[in-house]
Amino acid sequence: MNFELKTMDVAQAASEKCDLLVLLVPDGFAPGKDALGDLVAQAIKAKDLDTKPGKSLHSYQVAGVAARRVVLAGIGAGDARAVRQAVAAVAPALKQGAPKRAVVCVAGAASAAAVEAVVRGVAQASYVYTATKSKAEARSLARVLVGVHDARAMSAPFERAVAVSVGVELAREWGNRPANHATPNLLAQAAKGLAKHPGIQCKVLGPAEVAHLGMGAFMAVARGAEEPLRFIELRYQGAAKTQAPVVLVGKGITFDTGGISIKPAPEMDEMKFDMCGAASVLGVFRALAELQPAINVVGLIPACENMPDGRAVKPGDVVTSMSGQTIEILNTDAEGRLVLCDALTYAQRFKPAAMIDIATLTGACVIALGGVRSGLFASDDTLASALQAAGEASDDLCWRMPLDDDYAEGLKTNFADVANVAGRPAGSVTAAKFLQRFAGEQPWAHLDIAGTAWKGGAAKGATGRPVGLLVHYLLERAATAVPSTGTSSPARRRKGSAAPAA
Ligand code: BES
Ligand code: MN
Ligand code: ZN
Repeated sequence: MNFELKTMDVAQAASEKCDLLVLLVPDGFAPGKDALGDLVAQAIKAKDLDTKPGKSLHSYQVAGVAARRVVLAGIGAGDARAVRQAVAAVAPALKQGAPKRAVVCVAGAASAAAVEAVVRGVAQASYVYTATKSKAEARSLARVLVGVHDARAMSAPFERAVAVSVGVELAREWGNRPANHATPNLLAQAAKGLAKHPGIQCKVLGPAEVAHLGMGAFMAVARGAEEPLRFIELRYQGAAKTQAPVVLVGKGITFDTGGISIKPAPEMDEMKFDMCGAASVLGVFRALAELQPAINVVGLIPACENMPDGRAVKPGDVVTSMSGQTIEILNTDAEGRLVLCDALTYAQRFKPAAMIDIATLTGACVIALGGVRSGLFASDDTLASALQAAGEASDDLCWRMPLDDDYAEGLKTNFADVANVAGRPAGSVTAAKFLQRFAGEQPWAHLDIAGTAWKGGAAKGATGRPVGLLVHYLLERAATAVPSTGTSSPARRRKGSAAPAA
């Protein structure tokens, strides 16, 4: 889908030829004396239009308006939250009647956050999953023109929102694909596909190379599967080679049966989403490809299935991780931390400036925080507040959880350096404490997205979180980083980080 940004007022919006015009109307808006302005004025006067977010009025072939369908939608005070609510409320109109070209115009002055909310909301609402449907109707919406009071001033947030939307959509798509259509190898192919964009490189390791590296924990998880594991390494270079990268590590369990510690049958299908951390890393790289920010980023994805089998790892087995630490695998369903720990060790070769892992790690995190906020664990206060702030700015919220050493007591065992599970209490914290042993000296954060990466029930599907949070964090970092002198950084067009040229 193609988004464009244009300066327009309500009268100009009326002259835009399109299938659907959505006019977002704030409280107290004073309409002008044009056809669309009259419609708004009359509708407000007759109380047919309420400017509260969530309220809307639909009309058809309005005289003096070029659009076929017109939807007036209230945005209250015009803040990002209200805009999100308004766009969500008119979401069905973006699909009904298969509009190809839509104009979404914000009446009055809009904040940057509100413009971002328009783009993100429209993209979110118009996504259609089709990959495994035989008669699926693809998304109809091909072009969306976003009309604002001052396009020039809104250009950077607009470009950022478009890039985040593209990344979120890629993450949703791979999250949604069933495990037999999203194998470790297919994820690796998707990552390789990203390397066609400038600044991105991709390397994929198979079982032999992973064995050579000594990733005994990762290999233990993959043992029970016929589907071969993949270790995916993505690199984005937007700054000088000498600048230390941010390393992102995404859990890529393409299906989690639990292994020998097998999960109960109900809702086990949802364990196809257990690679949403990996999908979010792909999504972030897709957004980086769009924006080309001045930063270096490495993405690592250990990808495999967790299956029960005659060859599968068994409870009580002890394996040696790449770090040299031995691990007693007391529960084969605590596999995420096993694939991640070797990836965290591998990451040390990049001498990261910061490292963030993203994982659908624990059911306990779903109990603690539900689907509203991801769990944030961090060894470093500065990194924690930057991620928390990025979450607020992108409406992709997280909440900091503790990492006191006392939580690690339960990971002690008589038979190895560490066990892969502690008891039931504070399950998401003990999982994070396990990872911390492998995280190295640089600032490290862990995002437990078990509750936020997908929705269950009738709206079952991947959310694309936390692509928004991560992209905002990386852009903020790129904008505030002191550019290193000497070695020059690649000169490519950058979007979304500065005001555009006139
Ligand atoms: N992928 C699951 C975590 C999960 C469960 C995410 C349910 C979302 C919904 C993870 O691999 C897992 O099975 N974790 C176990 C850990 C336990 C054995 C210590 C869990 O949370 O039950
Ligand atoms: Mn599991
Ligand atoms: Zn899992």
